[in-house]
Amino acid sequence: MSRVFITQRIYPEGVRILEQAGIPHQMRPDENPLPTADLIEQARGVEALITLVTDRIAEDVFQALPELRIVANVAVGYDNIDLSAATRHGVVVTNTPDVLTEATADMAFALMLAAARRIPEADRFVREGRWHGWTLMQEQMGVDLYGRTLGIFGMGRIGAAMARRAHHGFGMRILYTNRSAAPAGLEQELQAERVPFERLLSESDFVSIHAPATPETRHVFTADAFRRMKPTAILVNTARGPLVDEAALVNALRSGEIAGAGLDVFEEEPQVHPGLLELTERVALAPHLGSATLETRTRMCVMAAENVREFLQGRRPANAVNP
Ligand code: DGY
Repeated sequence: MSRVFITQRIYPEGVRILEQAGIPHQMRPDENPLPTADLIEQARGVEALITLVTDRIAEDVFQALPELRIVANVAVGYDNIDLSAATRHGVVVTNTPDVLTEATADMAFALMLAAARRIPEADRFVREGRWHGWTLMQEQMGVDLYGRTLGIFGMGRIGAAMARRAHHGFGMRILYTNRSAAPAGLEQELQAERVPFERLLSESDFVSIHAPATPETRHVFTADAFRRMKPTAILVNTARGPLVDEAALVNALRSGEIAGAGLDVFEEEPQVHPGLLELTERVALAPHLGSATLETRTRMCVMAAENVREFLQGRRPANAVNP
């Protein structure tokens, strides 16, 4: 009888952790989420689930699986799991912090550069045979990052990694908005200033989102927020789609209230607002690739399996997120 159900295929290095610990487990070979009823059916009797961000784990799952004691999410975000329901049912939830920090910051930086230097447009221009030679006033004229102001919304691990790249590598001035002040050493290292949200919006040339999706952060970026931003500003989001009112973002881009966007996450993934798909200038889109390097995704699988192993062997897993 399996003690662990892995809801979707993960890298073998993760599965090996369970094998080596002699923990019976079952892994679905597919790479898509199960409808809840099927997940409940297939996971009946297990003590642990290893889940991905596309799995929705809510009250009905906890109710239907009374033996369940831990859900190990292969992600740093866990908004796909109803944490208060888990806690009420005595189920530990774990995530995979740290191992994906640098890869996600790389992706945020890549999208910032892609939108600023108009890389997706330039790529299409060359492939479509529309390039007829170097010109001084090239169609894909971009903007400098060097010396500009980057506003970080959410100065956690990934926000700080993004700020480090920007400050040390590109000489950018760092502003940030966060519930609490960053450690003094970090502020000093980055010469970063904590500012109210309104100042972050009005003074930043680039705004990069690095906060989790919670009821409090839902649609923090509204039509009003975009009106407060510079008309030359570029928004980057590698955190979670619901922080941004996507319809308002489309309007802001269309009307020129802001200049561009680099987006890796969307409100209703995998759907993307049709208005965003039509905006081809200074808008770079990616399919939730923040942590998508082989090394990082492998480490995430290993960490999730280690959390399960620790728990089933009677220890508190290192990455429990329940209050
Ligand atoms: C996370 O870890 O939360 C990412 O969104 C999935 O890689």
